[in-house]
Amino acid sequence: MSKSYDPSKEGAQMSFEGRMSYSDYLMLEKVLDAQEPLSKAHDEMLFIIQHQTSELWMKLALHEINAAVRSIRDDRLEPAFKMLTRVARIFEQLNSAWDVLRTMTPSEYTTFRESLGQSSGFQSWQYRAIEFLAGNRNVAMLGPHAHRPDIMEKLEAILAAPSLYDEAIRLLSRNGFDVGAEADKSDWRETRTASEKVFAAWQIVYRDPERYWMLYELAEKLVDFEDYFRRWRFNHVTTVERIIGMKRGTGGTSGASYLKKMLEVELFPELWHVRTGL
Ligand code: HEM
Repeated sequence: MSKSYDPSKEGAQMSFEGRMSYSDYLMLEKVLDAQEPLSKAHDEMLFIIQHQTSELWMKLALHEINAAVRSIRDDRLEPAFKMLTRVARIFEQLNSAWDVLRTMTPSEYTTFRESLGQSSGFQSWQYRAIEFLAGNRNVAMLGPHAHRPDIMEKLEAILAAPSLYDEAIRLLSRNGFDVGAEADKSDWRETRTASEKVFAAWQIVYRDPERYWMLYELAEKLVDFEDYFRRWRFNHVTTVERIIGMKRGTGGTSGASYLKKMLEVELFPELWHVRTGL
């Protein structure tokens, strides 16, 4: 390419006086102005950007899961499949992102850890919203948000309605499966416990995929989502142990031990148990 190559000769727009540019459309000033390290430590910028980009991807995940919930409720499964595939890919992307954070050593993290005070991902309301929306509903997790009525309202709205998995179970019921009292509850606030009837329904679906293809495909999309979500949790706890060992978290929990306990969470229990029952 010659040094004097000028893309404007091929039509590239070069003048944005009075026109919307790339930065305007994306509001980059706002986004790129939001990194304010509190220490002089070199690695704090990595730490901030890693969290902020994760929160942006979580925002998209919430957008997709919310739409998938509505689609399933309306018996429009194909769009839900596409959205759930996207959610799984978002988590795959977040999983790869840990590799960047892992370049930070324990020594480097200790140079700015004090600056965080008591702040921690434990207080990520978007993460809690994803969990609540998927079906893992521990109302104790509302605590860190009690001082923010705007956030409480969003989380309470999610808890007031059926979760993603509740909607899948209601779909089973609309398709003639007996799911007991699970299709029509007056209170959706708590995490449901695995039920024999729902297990039996998925067993019928998995024993005859050809006959129940749409339900079968939805089930596998859900498992795919949870599979990548579990990998995120595992990558997180492994990164945490690598960086702070068994120290307590800035958020006050036991740290890696708490996160290891969270690895046992099952979002869609019967879909995992049905594998043993085939
Ligand atoms: C140096 C890197 C990191 C360390 C040492 C770390 C440490 C921890 C610890 C110890 C906890 C338990 C709560 C506490 O007591 O603080 C936690 C929770 C959490 N962290 Fe991180 N974390 C790191 C990076 C990240 C990143 C990049 C994200 C992305 C948003 C993230 C999101 C979360 C979330 C969502 C929770 C809550 C998990 C749950 O309650 O199940 N963390 N983290």
